[in-house]
Amino acid sequence: MSASDNQNLKGAIVGMCNPLLDICADVDTDFLKKYVRRYGLKANDAILASEEHVPLFDDMVKKYTVKYIAGGAGQNALRGAQRLLPAGATTFIGCISNDKYGQEITNAAKKDGLKPLYMIDEAKPTGTCALLITGTDRSLVANLAAANSYDVKHLRQPENWSSIEAAQYYYITGFFLTVSPASIMEVAKHAHAQGKTFMMNVSAPFTPEFYKANWEEVMPYVDVLFGNETEAEAWSKNFGYETSDLSQIARRIADLPKLNAAKPRTVIITHGDKATLVAVQGQADVTTFPVNPVPKAEIVDTNGAGDAFVAGFLGQYVQGKPLSTSVECGHWLASQVIRESGASYPDKLAHFEA
Ligand code: AP5
Repeated sequence: MSASDNQNLKGAIVGMCNPLLDICADVDTDFLKKYVRRYGLKANDAILASEEHVPLFDDMVKKYTVKYIAGGAGQNALRGAQRLLPAGATTFIGCISNDKYGQEITNAAKKDGLKPLYMIDEAKPTGTCALLITGTDRSLVANLAAANSYDVKHLRQPENWSSIEAAQYYYITGFFLTVSPASIMEVAKHAHAQGKTFMMNVSAPFTPEFYKANWEEVMPYVDVLFGNETEAEAWSKNFGYETSDLSQIARRIADLPKLNAAKPRTVIITHGDKATLVAVQGQADVTTFPVNPVPKAEIVDTNGAGDAFVAGFLGQYVQGKPLSTSVECGHWLASQVIRESGASYPDKLAHFEA
């Protein structure tokens, strides 16, 4: 890559999501069952914490040896993408507090070369996410705290909006629909007006269930949508598609109305070690990209696999590489991350060979 290419990628991608500190522990099924009974927690799900979940965080820390790892789905993806891109390519927006956890998240972002543009809410603690791991399942309970305070006024400040104007690509998680749909729409409209690329992730089954109206508003602007198989099924159920066939779901989402018809929408559904499906608006065939399964003995945990897939994809896509190369790089980076604990990238990352 030449120096001028590097210059072109300066500030190329802006991400928005909730910056969270992950509190991870391998828990026994009895512990999980206690919360399943009390709060309907599922072994493999992602939910938002309410008041009633607060004791879970204390119980977990008291009973288990926990690991604290910088998380937040969007920041995980942007940190990974930055590892594959020239310095200064990525910027991240969200809200933290000025406390110890906020500092850890900031340090993790900077270590991977991601430029944080955080709003600071001193009145609340930095958000956390409990990751309760039972074998190959993980249950996520996010306590957004300060992350929930993000306000579109921060985005509109000239020093922050200038990053939006400088970027060519935007990646926003469905998780952020619960916090600042106004910010999402503002970026979506800017991307549309300027012919830039606007990307989102379904993020969790609850987003199509409880934020369907927000998805309906933003989908005409979405150029690329990511999700996994359970999110695709939840989408199908809530949008009345009446099918659990992933290819058909991807096809239907890709063909939803879009404002810029000249830029067909791409929908990417990952499915663990099974093939990834890619549907492009207006194309009858859904393409499958097989995954090389990582041997079980080499998997530490699969946390952050989906975010790492997005990271690898973005690392190629924003350099103008073909869709197939971008998907292959997503598979490659995800296969590295599942060999690490949590959503962490190896200190030394091998070079991706297309
Ligand atoms: P988590 O859900 O663990 O991470 P994720 O990136 O979504 O990873 P998953 O394990 O769920 O993967 P996936 O199902 O999306 O993808 P798939 O299995 O298809 O959560 C991580 C973060 O979410 C945490 O840091 C937390 O902070 C954050 N979070 C939670 N709530 C939040 C909130 N409200 N706001 C903000 N952040 C929040 O796999 C993807 C790819 O991986 C596959 O295509 C494949 O390439 C690869 N892969 C997977 N399994 C294998 C295998 N066995 N062999 C080879 N490759 C594999």
